[in-house]
Amino acid sequence: MTARIYLSPPDLSGRELAMLGDAIASGWIAPLGPHVDAFEDEVRRRVDMPYAVALSSGTAALHLALMVLGIGRGDTVWTSTLTFAATANAITYVGATPVLVDSDRASWNVDPGLLVEELARAARRNALPRAVIGVDLYGQSADWEPIVAACREHGVWVIEDAAEALGATYRGRPVGSLGDLSILSFNGNKIITTSGGGMLLASQKAWADRARYLATQAREPVRHYERRAIGYNYRLSNLLAAVGRAQLADLDRRVDARRAIQARYRAALADLPGWSFMPEAGYGRTTFWLTCATIDADRFGATRDHVIDRLAAVDIEARPVWMPLHLQPVFAEAQVFRGQIAESLFRDGICLPSGSSLTIRDQDRVVEAIQGRPRGYE
Ligand SMILES: Cc1ncc(COP(=O)(O)O)c(C=O)c1O
Repeated sequence: MTARIYLSPPDLSGRELAMLGDAIASGWIAPLGPHVDAFEDEVRRRVDMPYAVALSSGTAALHLALMVLGIGRGDTVWTSTLTFAATANAITYVGATPVLVDSDRASWNVDPGLLVEELARAARRNALPRAVIGVDLYGQSADWEPIVAACREHGVWVIEDAAEALGATYRGRPVGSLGDLSILSFNGNKIITTSGGGMLLASQKAWADRARYLATQAREPVRHYERRAIGYNYRLSNLLAAVGRAQLADLDRRVDARRAIQARYRAALADLPGWSFMPEAGYGRTTFWLTCATIDADRFGATRDHVIDRLAAVDIEARPVWMPLHLQPVFAEAQVFRGQIAESLFRDGICLPSGSSLTIRDQDRVVEAIQGRPRGYE
């Protein structure tokens, strides 16, 4: 019997139980407490952003990022079409309209040239978005310099969705520090996890204060439960923050492990006909949160879906690359700038098991199952 191999399962550092025990013993079994404060401080320092608010999810962080910028009905927000749905869902939570932008092949992230060009065109039409949410996909930073420069020029806010890329860098800067506001996710599949959780990072204190207020049911600092705004219950538990601290202390090992996994897959599979791995763009260090590749079905002799099925048959979980948002029924009405590159990355793209606890033996199982061609695909 061999155990199932998952795409990106939680990886324990061994210190979680001690930290959890400390949180329980302290009596702070609440959505606030010393571990929440310390976790915010440690993430803020790691990511090099002045302010941090620990939250119940990355999605909550995206929602509050838009809220603290005052974005709402009648506004548009631009984002990458090749991303997890939460990025654009949050835009709709505040009543704004998402506009979707294609990727480039160099990084799979939003095409900076296309974005800059379309911002200039929108400026001429007086149709600029209020914000751009750039995404750091699969552990790789977007190309932020041109994006931020164009947004500054046109007075557009920049939100960095770094949910998938904690630990990566861009031109020597930590991912998560590249926008006016940024968000992280500590969902169970992420490089560090609190089981579920997220964080909003802010370059201005007023934004962090406002986010903390909104995340705490918009509680006014008075005795009598007065409400001046609609609030949310979005804060992270002190117990989960304790787990997050144990995980964060182990982040560098996790990045190294995922990078080594990617390098091993590449060494074993890159020569297969039709296989191309997600490139590491020259401007930064990628975590390879997930190792992703595209498969040219004609050259390989099997489609991406055949490969996923073949792996599933031997109890290995692999997944398609995110479905571009402009192809999703729920965003069918959304305006999209181009989209063909994201479509082809989705059609041919596969994400391979990449968890930082994946053993070399497990990885050999994945490689052997893929190399089982052509017999395995009949
Ligand atoms: C790019 C991206 N943004 C946002 C999220 C949402 O984070 P959460 O699951 O913590 O709400 C995720 C994934 O979970 C993601 O991959």
